Amino acid sequence: MNIGLLGFGVVGKGVYEITQQRSDMQVTHVLCLEDIQLPDAKVAKDFREILDDETVDTVVEAMGGLHPAYEFVKAAIEAGKNVVTSNKALVCTFYDELIPLAKEKGVSFRSTAAVGGGIGWLSELERARRVQKLQQVGGIMNGTCNYILDNMTRLGLDYSVVLKQAQQLGYAEANPSTDVDGIDTWHKVILSANIAFGVTVDKETVPVAGISRITAEDVANFKAHGRICKLISTGKCVDGVYSVYVQPTLVKDGEPEAAVPMNYNLITFIGEISGRMSFFGQGAGRYPTAYNVVQDLVDVLEGKSFYAPYGQKVSADNSEKLCYYIRGGKGLPAPATEIWGNAAITDRVSVSAVHAWLKQNPEAFIAAL
Ligand code: HSE
Repeated sequence: MNIGLLGFGVVGKGVYEITQQRSDMQVTHVLCLEDIQLPDAKVAKDFREILDDETVDTVVEAMGGLHPAYEFVKAAIEAGKNVVTSNKALVCTFYDELIPLAKEKGVSFRSTAAVGGGIGWLSELERARRVQKLQQVGGIMNGTCNYILDNMTRLGLDYSVVLKQAQQLGYAEANPSTDVDGIDTWHKVILSANIAFGVTVDKETVPVAGISRITAEDVANFKAHGRICKLISTGKCVDGVYSVYVQPTLVKDGEPEAAVPMNYNLITFIGEISGRMSFFGQGAGRYPTAYNVVQDLVDVLEGKSFYAPYGQKVSADNSEKLCYYIRGGKGLPAPATEIWGNAAITDRVSVSAVHAWLKQNPEAFIAAL
């Protein structure tokens, strides 16, 4: 296998190092705008050098961002090259276009590292759905949020202090919105639901609430009631009705999610035969992520294409009713049944109603119970 590697940052460099030790694949070209020299690969500044080279059969996209990653990946598929990417925003945003295109062109398209970093989550979903109907996917899919929430819970620190630590450790981006506003998790659960249920979930129908409004006082309220806050994604399919959403959730002390430390992920599926299966590990970082890119490359060599057939477009219904912790905002989306410090616990109310209320009250913090 001859690989054209797009990007030579955290993940790209890791992929290059791992493939150097293998005889079944080699990086022959690297797209990198910096002046670097590699002993065994051509460094290109123009993507066309890779696209037009017929000896390159597989493109690894490790650039991140939507553009020009999308244009490069699309052109590679159109040229008949296999694609492996770790870019969840790209796969999720252009799912409708890239998955059918890869099928039409008869090339492999894999993105295991896009969800869960080094956890073999999407590839396990591919296996899981071969022998059973999947009913639910989701869990803790963002290491930065988990790091922040875990440190606030264990040490009683303020959000802004822990966010700064996460940035210093390189977990959170300088602009942390993608992580803390839940967008990264949103992409990951939509992609997981698409694969698990064999559908294309309409992204516009998937609400997301992040953690950026949480305070040390909220965390103290949770502790006083034996709860721990985690950013949890949910994708469910019950009798053909889909619920897909991302929101802070108060898990009970003793539940598996409550024990997830630092920047780790815990992702779960529930299947009608297997029941609950959970996957724990490092959701980010050079070697865990590059490891899964290389796993995908081996799968490409073995002839595996995408994880699931491209399926019909469905809307998330989200009429499921839950109780919520709500602090701030005007009024409440449902009557209060309890007061926890300066916050209310509401009666059961639909996920969609709470997220619609939150849109009108963006200064509020919500968490499902
Ligand atoms: N920023 C992500 C996280 C890693 O914190 O989990 C890449 O998906």
